[in-house]
Amino acid sequence: MQKPTRKYTYREVDESEVVSALEDIFVIRPQTLRNICKHFVNELTLGLKEDGHTLKMIPSYVSRRPNGKETGSYLALDLGGTNFRVCEVYLEGDSKVRLTQKKFTIPDYAKCGQSDVLFDFLADSVLTFITENNIPTETDIPLGFTFSFPVNQTALDKGYLMGWTKGFDCKDTVGKDVVELLNEALARKNVKVHVSALVNDTVGTLMSHAYNDPGTFVGVILGTGTNAAYVEKVSAIPKWKGGPVESGEMIINCEWGAFDNERVVLPFNKYDQKMDDESNNKGEQTFEKMISGLYLGEIVRQVIVDLVQRRVLFGGISSPEIETPYKFETAYMSRIERDHSSDLLDTKLVLQELLNVPYPAPRDRRIVRRICELVATRAARLAAVGVAAVVTKMDRVGDGCTVAIDGSVYEHYPHFGNRMKDAIHELLGMFEENVSLQLGKDGSSVGAGVIAALA
Ligand code: GLC
Repeated sequence: MQKPTRKYTYREVDESEVVSALEDIFVIRPQTLRNICKHFVNELTLGLKEDGHTLKMIPSYVSRRPNGKETGSYLALDLGGTNFRVCEVYLEGDSKVRLTQKKFTIPDYAKCGQSDVLFDFLADSVLTFITENNIPTETDIPLGFTFSFPVNQTALDKGYLMGWTKGFDCKDTVGKDVVELLNEALARKNVKVHVSALVNDTVGTLMSHAYNDPGTFVGVILGTGTNAAYVEKVSAIPKWKGGPVESGEMIINCEWGAFDNERVVLPFNKYDQKMDDESNNKGEQTFEKMISGLYLGEIVRQVIVDLVQRRVLFGGISSPEIETPYKFETAYMSRIERDHSSDLLDTKLVLQELLNVPYPAPRDRRIVRRICELVATRAARLAAVGVAAVVTKMDRVGDGCTVAIDGSVYEHYPHFGNRMKDAIHELLGMFEENVSLQLGKDGSSVGAGVIAALA
């Protein structure tokens, strides 16, 4: 086979020139980090005051943390990312948990169609799981429903959808109680299960980690989307109208993905803007769009498309894949950043085989790798700002706490955790040591079980 050759019909711009122009756009300096953090703490406080602010700061109706002695078997249904899962969670006491689970892929027609289609699909999946695992249904089984979208929660088992995020868009669900929708769908299918708790994945992650580490005060998701929940004093929530709370604390779902939707502090650049313009929720989830897995690959793609158009990359030659939105997956970035071979052979493979770039020269591969590094490092540093802001708001910088983090980006993206730690150090100095970032795997599902047990 003839090797494709590349014809230079343009002046090849110096690699360091290309890279340093990108660094100017993507690197966040320590002073900027500190400014963002300060604004973040103010926004957290504002959202607790009254409704209608950028950070929704939703009281979760979870006001007790577990002690690890809770026991029992619970069903959990977890909707919110790329996959949808049904699980049976066994709490064994002694802080031990067993999990049986089945993953389902949500078809696109269910993500963006009529509500009933989505909820019938969820109910069908529960039925399949119960049947396959011979789960007895003589009595109604309690189910913890992890639903990871902003809902206006009015009870532990009641919440009205405020709007979809992460590419979901079933128009007629907004404004409805999602627990009722699920209960109705379960009844339609004659499945004897009832929803006893509605849980955000961040709240679940916090609670599941707290089951074996009582020092856990924050739960974070860094996956398809991003968000955090933390333990707040009820006395610090002026908008709370739900009456006295025995423990005096309440877990708050921040919905931090919406941070700085007014775009006053975040270094949102022309590539972010282009991605946002072309998204189905333009102007929304600004912080999430700079951090989470659904968007990182797309930002990299936007940069590549621009460089190719300006004929400073790939000899100005694109491919249909490079031109297709969301074709450059965040998983490719992980792979490229893991490539430590001297001539970036795996990067070459990704570009050639998965993205059909005809001849990615070593210079081009190095530039692409640097783009990935810049976009992902910026994401990690921004996620770190969020964590530092929440810990500061809780007044736990001195005493410290565990931050449980779940999600594909945190779990699988190389160096993500270390880059976060570096940025937390820039923000909190030596107190960074007090903030322990811990992977909270399967937290969103297990947490729904823990919350159902406490209910
Ligand atoms: C989105 C959702 C939020 C969820 C987060 C992580 O930001 O709005 O509820 O916690 O994604 O899945």
